[in-house]
Amino acid sequence: TVAPLGVSQKVIAINNQFPGPLLNVTTNWNVRVNVQNNLDEPLLLTWDGIQMRMNSWQDGVAGTNCPIPPGWNWTYQFQLKDQIGSFFYFPSLGLQRAAGGYGPVTVNNRAIVPVPFNQPDGDITLFIGDWYTKSHTELRDMLDDGKDLGIPDGILINAKGPCRYDTTLVPEGLQYEIVGVEPGKTYCFRVHNVGTSTSLNFRIQNHNMRLVEAEGTYTYQQNYTNLDIHVGQSYSFLVSMDQNASTDYYIVASPRFVSSEARWHDVNGVAILQYSNSKGSASGPLPDAPDDFYDKYYSMNQARSIRMNVSSGAARPNPQGSFRYGSINITQTFVLKNESPLRIDGKRRRTINRVSYSPPETPLRLADLHNLTGVYKTDFPTMPSNAPPRRASSVLNASYKGFLEMVFQNNETDVQTYHLDGYSFFVVGMDYGEWTPNSRGSYNKWDAISRSTTQGLPRRVDCGSGVARQRRHLEYTCRKAGQLV
Ligand SMILES: *[C@@H]1O[C@H](CO)[C@@H](O)[C@H](O)[C@H]1NC(C)=O
Ligand SMILES: *[C@@H]1O[C@H](CO)[C@@H](O)[C@H](O)[C@H]1NC(C)=O
Ligand SMILES: *[C@@H]1O[C@H](CO)[C@@H](O)[C@H](O)[C@H]1NC(C)=O
Ligand SMILES: *[C@@H]1O[C@H](CO)[C@@H](O)[C@H](O)[C@H]1NC(C)=O
Ligand SMILES: *[C@@H]1O[C@H](CO)[C@@H](O)[C@H](O)[C@H]1NC(C)=O
Ligand SMILES: *[C@@H]1O[C@H](CO)[C@@H](O)[C@H](O)[C@H]1NC(C)=O
Ligand SMILES: *[C@@H]1O[C@H](CO)[C@@H](O)[C@H](O)[C@H]1NC(C)=O
Ligand SMILES: *[C@@H]1O[C@H](CO)[C@@H](O)[C@H](O)[C@H]1NC(C)=O
Ligand SMILES: *[C@@H]1O[C@H](CO)[C@@H](O)[C@H](O)[C@H]1NC(C)=O
Repeated sequence: TVAPLGVSQKVIAINNQFPGPLLNVTTNWNVRVNVQNNLDEPLLLTWDGIQMRMNSWQDGVAGTNCPIPPGWNWTYQFQLKDQIGSFFYFPSLGLQRAAGGYGPVTVNNRAIVPVPFNQPDGDITLFIGDWYTKSHTELRDMLDDGKDLGIPDGILINAKGPCRYDTTLVPEGLQYEIVGVEPGKTYCFRVHNVGTSTSLNFRIQNHNMRLVEAEGTYTYQQNYTNLDIHVGQSYSFLVSMDQNASTDYYIVASPRFVSSEARWHDVNGVAILQYSNSKGSASGPLPDAPDDFYDKYYSMNQARSIRMNVSSGAARPNPQGSFRYGSINITQTFVLKNESPLRIDGKRRRTINRVSYSPPETPLRLADLHNLTGVYKTDFPTMPSNAPPRRASSVLNASYKGFLEMVFQNNETDVQTYHLDGYSFFVVGMDYGEWTPNSRGSYNKWDAISRSTTQGLPRRVDCGSGVARQRRHLEYTCRKAGQLV
């Protein structure tokens, strides 16, 4: 039981820690993790973004394994591939992640594989994410009843509430994260959005963040003063402690692409960066979030600027050298469209191509292993349609060793993230509006980032759509010239 926001609540701890302990591992290692489930409900742990190409049994999602029953234990075993970087594990069932259960996985390079930057002086892992004082079972019941989760009660950084950056907003007595650093040193910040639904903008006051790695791929290194990190995404930044230690500095994770409701203003994750020779505490307003009111493409251009460093030697999807994905012929195309919840048998359900997935009692891979037929159907529609929405155990029929093109068409008014568990994919394009075959003309066929989780921004920031940027004074303004609501 902890009280990150001043309200006592039960959380899922691992080995008595929340966040859970670090798995500090090196490529090629065979890893064995024994998971003892002491919850009162079934559990699976998944190793987010770690490729399990030949080993999906270890993936820890409902599609492959039976859940670990309460009181039982299960040993995961897998070999790490040439994927160097920052990952995390988390419970994959029943919204349990909203109660914790997550922890870091750092995959190091073998000594003979060089990394494209100088060895940092230390590692700092930060878990950022929205947080509700309701339990995950209450949240789950809300979703089952077709309700939205609403505005979270706060944003946590490493399972702690915000520092008291604003005495009217933040009550006294909350514990907050203090990141201690030495002046002149450079640290690798490993940042993960472990929240449930809120995209976050991450920034460190007065400090540049040099992005070096995204979900197992070395990036073309560039400085950012802030970066949007969507739910489930992970990044590594190098940050040099090159500032004056006249004060401490704020580390901020603030909500992005949220509605104009006033209460969103009050939820910010704020930690403290403290130099060992610091002369005072941080004060004043938080560093500004980007203003995409005047630049609708701000976030998208930022996402497009995250590219793979094609001349670096490892941490790549293909260890054999440059992976010329742009010249491989596509064998299948899937256009996957999510819409606002639709009614199925009287309940509001999320769908993709009008199918709301219903996990069969026997996991898919186990059904395969035992040659059971009728457990699921490979009839998932490859294109959106206006077919009546349905619940089904419906699976995409993809061909073994095929090279797939997948289009995620976000038809909702909020950001969605899409995750291919156990796989990485190249994010070759991203845009507003409707995808058409002509969109292929703008694909990045050279240095697209390969990752496991990507965002789909809302279709358009329209006047009154509820996604217009929230203003400090609660003005609800619209990009369309002359319109002010
Ligand atoms: C993780 O392992 C690496 C390589 O073995 C080691 O250099 C590093 O100090 C370890 N980090 C932590 C936090 O244990
Ligand atoms: C884990 O489960 C095995 C049976 O699968 C059992 O023999 C063993 O005692 C269990 N270990 C713990 C620590 O509970
Ligand atoms: C790309 O990787 C190479 C080789 O490791 C490295 O020397 C170079 O600095 C990197 N470039 C950028 C822009 O990240
Ligand atoms: C990136 O930021 C670091 C630290 O502030 C600075 O030393 C470096 O010159 C910057 N690089 C670029 C390309 O701006
Ligand atoms: C460091 O702080 C002092 C005041 O404490 C200020 O005069 C000086 O300009 C600052 N230097 C830098 C590089 O910001
Ligand atoms: C890709 O398709 C083109 C045109 O159909 C064909 O000429 C080419 O050989 C194919 N490339 C590969 C690698 O299969
Ligand atoms: C499933 O079918 C395959 C191929 O027909 C066969 O080799 C295998 O023994 C079957 N497995 C079971 C559990 O019946
Ligand atoms: C799946 O696709 C393959 C080849 O693309 C096709 O031969 C097969 O009939 C399909 N199976 C189903 C159940 O649709
Ligand atoms: C959803 O798709 C329909 C049909 O293509 C379109 O008319 C509508 O504007 C879309 N809505 C959003 C929010 O993208």
